[in-house]
Amino acid sequence: MKLFNVYSIENIEIDRGKGMYVFDKNGEKYLDFYGGHAVISIGHTNSYYVYSIKKQLNKISYYSNSIIINQQHKLASLLGEISGYKNYFLFICNSGTESNENALKIASIYTGKRKIIFFKGSFHGRTSGSASITDNYKITSSFDIQHNTIKINYKDIDILEKYLKNGDICAIITEGIQGISGIIDPGYSFFSSVNKLCKKYNTLLILDEVQSGYGRTGKFFSHQYYPVTPDLITIAKGMGNGYPIGGVLINPKFKSYNGMLGSTFGGNYLSCVSGVSVLKIIKKENLIENAKIMGNLLFKKLCLIPNIKRIRGKGLMLGLEFNFHVKQLKSILIHKEKVFVGLSNNPYVLRLLPPLIIKEKHIELFSKKLKNALSYIDKLK
Ligand SMILES: Cc1ncc(COP(=O)(O)O)c(C=O)c1O
Repeated sequence: MKLFNVYSIENIEIDRGKGMYVFDKNGEKYLDFYGGHAVISIGHTNSYYVYSIKKQLNKISYYSNSIIINQQHKLASLLGEISGYKNYFLFICNSGTESNENALKIASIYTGKRKIIFFKGSFHGRTSGSASITDNYKITSSFDIQHNTIKINYKDIDILEKYLKNGDICAIITEGIQGISGIIDPGYSFFSSVNKLCKKYNTLLILDEVQSGYGRTGKFFSHQYYPVTPDLITIAKGMGNGYPIGGVLINPKFKSYNGMLGSTFGGNYLSCVSGVSVLKIIKKENLIENAKIMGNLLFKKLCLIPNIKRIRGKGLMLGLEFNFHVKQLKSILIHKEKVFVGLSNNPYVLRLLPPLIIKEKHIELFSKKLKNALSYIDKLK
């Protein structure tokens, strides 16, 4: 059997990782400024993380959600403490798109409504509900677009209010900072207006922090830079440092009932242990503060590179805009300079999403490698 070919793949086979680096099967070392697409929060193969998962694996790897799984409670309690949402409830699932599906379902059950407002440039996942609120026709099927959704621009707050006035909107969903569209922060004015409008018109707000959460921007959630209180917050990526896990943080006003949500694998021992160890390491190593400090340093360093037209984002979620298409630059960075970085849907923007354990020496190294790659491109012209 062959694989169903849906990914565009670099001709590199990664064999192992350590901290800020990954190594291919020939032993070649790569600096990881992509974090496997914002997934690697605490660095590759952190020894406590590996130890915790191995220890659990030796005890039991799986049983169903029909018994007490204490690791789920540990995860919820630690997440409540570190995220600042102590009084919210946690539903545990397996991925980002699933966390958004569940948030949409909770919102729809609560309001009895089905219309969802989403934003231009959004990405919320590939399963049907999430795809229907994702602004990319290439990943949606006609099955997906049957959902009742409305797309608007972040700046069109008046249009947003017009829709809310109709009284038939179930929820508004936005990313904390848009990732795939090229690192777009909706900003203070958007979040404070939306917060007020949601309260005024009794509409729910769902914050997708799948990419921008878990300390990446220098706060646990990127929306915590702004005066906004979401009803539902969705998480995944950095949560398990590569072990599949996602979740929804749920305001206490929502009441659960038996069978309302569910998942075979959601909340399994191994994913919860990985989630708990990630949070313990984030706390012990002060990684949120580190993301803020190192993010600022990285920002300043990059400002000194004249080829970069604009830098967007916060902390360790940065978009570098150039005045040329960056596909070739990314390729040179990976294959010549041995640095992983990410692309975006904006062909001019490179995405940087390094692990939160980054140190000054990695920033120096990255800056040197980026300059090398840029001068290589200049020579090719
Ligand atoms: C903001 C955001 N939401 C949702 C998702 C979907 O997550 P997953 O691929 O785990 O389903 C992604 C993935 O890139 C994302 O960036």
